[in-house]
Amino acid sequence: MQHNKVLILDFGSQYTQLIARRVRELNIYSEIYPYNKIPDQLESYNAVILSGSPVSVRSDEALHPDLSNIRGKKPILAVCYGAQYLAHFSGGEVSESNTREYGRANLAYIKEEEDFFENIHKGSQVWMSHSDTIKQLPEGGVLLASTEDVENAAFKIENEQTYAIQFHPEVYHSTDGHQLLHNFLIKIARVNQDWTPQSFVEETVDDLKAKLGNDKVVLGLSGGVDSSVAAMLLHKAIGKNLYCIFVNNGLLRKNEFEDVLHQYEGMGLNVKGVDASARFLDALAGKSEPEEKRKIIGRVFIEVFDDEAHSIQDVKWLAQGTIYPDVIESVSATGGPSATIKSHHNVGGLPDFMKLKVVEPLKSLFKDEVRRVGASMNMDSQLLGRHPFPGPGLAIRILGDLTREKVRILQEVDAIFINNLKSWNLYDKVWQAGAMLLPVNSVGVMGDERTYEKCVALRAVESTDGMTADWVNLPYEFLQKTSNEIINRVKGVNRVVYDISSKPPATIEWE
Ligand code: XMP
Repeated sequence: MQHNKVLILDFGSQYTQLIARRVRELNIYSEIYPYNKIPDQLESYNAVILSGSPVSVRSDEALHPDLSNIRGKKPILAVCYGAQYLAHFSGGEVSESNTREYGRANLAYIKEEEDFFENIHKGSQVWMSHSDTIKQLPEGGVLLASTEDVENAAFKIENEQTYAIQFHPEVYHSTDGHQLLHNFLIKIARVNQDWTPQSFVEETVDDLKAKLGNDKVVLGLSGGVDSSVAAMLLHKAIGKNLYCIFVNNGLLRKNEFEDVLHQYEGMGLNVKGVDASARFLDALAGKSEPEEKRKIIGRVFIEVFDDEAHSIQDVKWLAQGTIYPDVIESVSATGGPSATIKSHHNVGGLPDFMKLKVVEPLKSLFKDEVRRVGASMNMDSQLLGRHPFPGPGLAIRILGDLTREKVRILQEVDAIFINNLKSWNLYDKVWQAGAMLLPVNSVGVMGDERTYEKCVALRAVESTDGMTADWVNLPYEFLQKTSNEIINRVKGVNRVVYDISSKPPATIEWE
């Protein structure tokens, strides 16, 4: 079945992905393309959204694609730079603004009788971020809204389904943004809301069946959300022909290997748990440089996975849990030619399993959609709600060199921290949490004895994608109890600190 879909042309705004997600929250499928790579198959799109951009329409680096195949032919919603460019492209005038508008503003005038503004009223708060302004509307332009400072805050072009807004409907602070996108897409462009987790599952399973037939597929499970949901979709499509491999690198959380393996088996997956802890820990012995540790773990993983993949006869495909943000072609801030697609699998000089054909059932989904798809397959909510965990695991949370004893200590500390977050109902409010074992000993006193033992740092952050993050203001009582429990229960630790650094400038992991 062909879904209705919306094309989002990206001019490099930091909010472009947010537009795509907001559209999908309306159960409408959307795709992002760079502004200079307008797809040939325009007829398959029901509406087009032009994103914002960090550059000015008037600058030398201006991004000026030819919109003549779109304007007047498809419903358009042009946002911020998109609105300015649409005005410029259509013969209007854009100039530098006397008053820059950043942040909160209110719509002081609204042409309320318009379908575009159904259920939106004068005074509505919008989020602005621009220093240029549309001075003169293009021919046929009709003013739809103004703020105190910006007259042409919204306009349409007469006798077309062409709409332009200077503000950002996709951000949370534009309080009627969701309604506005709804009005444009559903009332004006009449796009069908036919994109749901259930329909995604049904269609993906059918596609996978057709694509894979009786072929065997191998997939590396990590215990994380993406690989688990990808596995469930493939399992529905090809059952026992899906061979999952779950590797214990000895750097997982306490009991994680056993618990997650058990959970996978309960889901009916054909999964092989491979305990390669010794191989990883031996290879890491004496290594303390973070990037070297990462490289070793990556290399050993490939060796282990390759051995296992070889033990499956006639395997043809490698499945990966790649998601949409990994494959969106990005537009560089200046619109230069640096646009690239991140590659997950290259050719040549690679282990055999990487020469398999690749199947990526989640590659059109955002992270929150992966969770919704998992939920619609009745997957365990605890599995779907798990915090992200880095591939190199505890190795990059043990600063400096790594020993089995340090891994054991950190696993104990981490388990207390995470279990307490769960029992205080804080786990779901935190994006990621973990403990770091620091390479310092400090003096303490226990009973009447002097101690000289390890220090651990706890870290809990809120974030949406890990690119930026802030520390979470955990209750003092929680920290007090957790610190006490760690020091009393974990032999070898006599000091606990809490990390209050944001990213940037700090990173989430300490290595
Ligand atoms: P940083 O420390 O860069 O982390 O702020 C951002 C996010 O990425 C995770 N991370 C990794 N994940 N391999 C991974 O699979 C790695 O080498 C790695 N390093 C960091 C980190 O846990 C956080 O979610």
